[in-house]
Amino acid sequence: MTHLRSIVRGCGSYLPPRILTNKELESIVATSDEWIVQRTGIRERHIAAKDETTSTLGIKAAEAALADAGLEAAEIDLVVCATSTPDYTFPSTATQIQHGLGNYGSAAFDLQAVCSGFIYGLATADKFLTSGSHKRALVVGAETFSRIIDWEDRGTCVLFGDGAGAVVLEAAPGEGTKADRGILTTQLRSDGRYRDKLYVDGGPGSTGTTGHLRMEGREVFKFAVGKVMDVVKDAFADAGVTPEELDWFVPHQANRRIIEASADKLGIPREKVVITVEKHGNTSAASIPLALDAARRDGRIKPGDLVMLEAIGGGFTWGSALLRW
Ligand code: ACO
Repeated sequence: MTHLRSIVRGCGSYLPPRILTNKELESIVATSDEWIVQRTGIRERHIAAKDETTSTLGIKAAEAALADAGLEAAEIDLVVCATSTPDYTFPSTATQIQHGLGNYGSAAFDLQAVCSGFIYGLATADKFLTSGSHKRALVVGAETFSRIIDWEDRGTCVLFGDGAGAVVLEAAPGEGTKADRGILTTQLRSDGRYRDKLYVDGGPGSTGTTGHLRMEGREVFKFAVGKVMDVVKDAFADAGVTPEELDWFVPHQANRRIIEASADKLGIPREKVVITVEKHGNTSAASIPLALDAARRDGRIKPGDLVMLEAIGGGFTWGSALLRW
C-alpha cells in the first residue's frame, strides 16, 4: 500500500559574516575564553549586521535550500518558519520570507517553540504533506538571538548566536516501512510548569517591550539531558529502529556537554554525533538545520542515512524527528 512520506529534497543555511569570538567577549563582560570553552564548547558565534533581520537570514537559507533541491520558489506550497525572534510582532517572518523568495499564494506561518522550533516545524510540515493536502514545504529555522540578549549578563550572552537553516520537504510515496526515505516519526512534548526557567522578560501582551532572555542555566542543563532521552527512545520504538542502526545524531546545538552527555546515555558513539556549537553557539531554532547542512555538505550525511534529530527549548518544549535522508 502506498504510504506518503516527507522526503528531504534539499537543504541550505546562512550565517552572517560577522564572527564574535570568546576573546572579544572578554572585553564586554567578565568572562574568559577558557570558561566558555570548558563549560559550553563554544569558541565563536555569528552576529547579524544592523541591516540584517531574521527574515533576511531566512531568505538566504531558503534560497540555498531551493537551489539544492533544484526547485523554483513557485513550486513550494507551504512555508513554515520556526523562530522566537521575528522581524515584527506581525506579519509573520514566514510571510516576509515568502515575499523575499517571490513565492505567492502558498500557506505561510511562523511557529514558536524556541530551540525546539525546527523539530516542531518539521513535524507540522510532515502532517501537511502526508495528509496529501500539500506537496512541497519549506521549513526554515531562523534567529537573531543577539537582539534579545542582555549583553551585560555573562551567564547568557556568551551562549547564543545568529543564523538560519532550511530544508525543502516533498511528499513522495513510500512503503510504510523503516526502509523508506523521509520522515519516519516525530515526537513532540511540552511542559509549561517550567516556563520561568528559560524565558524572555517582555512581549507585546505583557510589557509592550521586546524584553531580554533570562535563564536558570543549571535547571535547563538537568532537564535537557533527562528529557531528551524520552523522545529519542520513543522515536526509536515508534519507527522500530535500534540505536545501532543510526548513522547520524544531529541534536540541537546548545552546549557540547549536554550533547555528549545525551549521546553517551543513549549509547550513540561520539563519531556519529554532529557538533557545530563550537563555531555557531546556540542559534535556537536554526541550530539543527545549520548542523544538518554542514554535515551534508562535508559529505558525512549521505542519501539513505538514518538521522536522529532532537531538541529542547524554552517552555519547556522538546522533541525528536527520525528520518532517512
Ligand atoms: N564567564 C565566567 N563565569 C561565569 C559566566 C561566564 N560567562 N557565567 C556564569 N559564570 C559564573 C557564575 O557567576 C558562577 O559564579 P559563582 O560560583 O561565583 O557564583 C559560576 O560561573 C558558576 O555558574 P553556573 O551558572 O552554576 O555555571 P554552570 O556550570 O551551570 O554553567 C551554563 C553555566 C554553561 C549556562 C550551564 O548551566 C549550561 O550549559 N546550562 C544549559 C543552558 C543552555 O544551554 N541554555 C541554552 C538554551 S536552552 C537550550 O537550548 C537547551
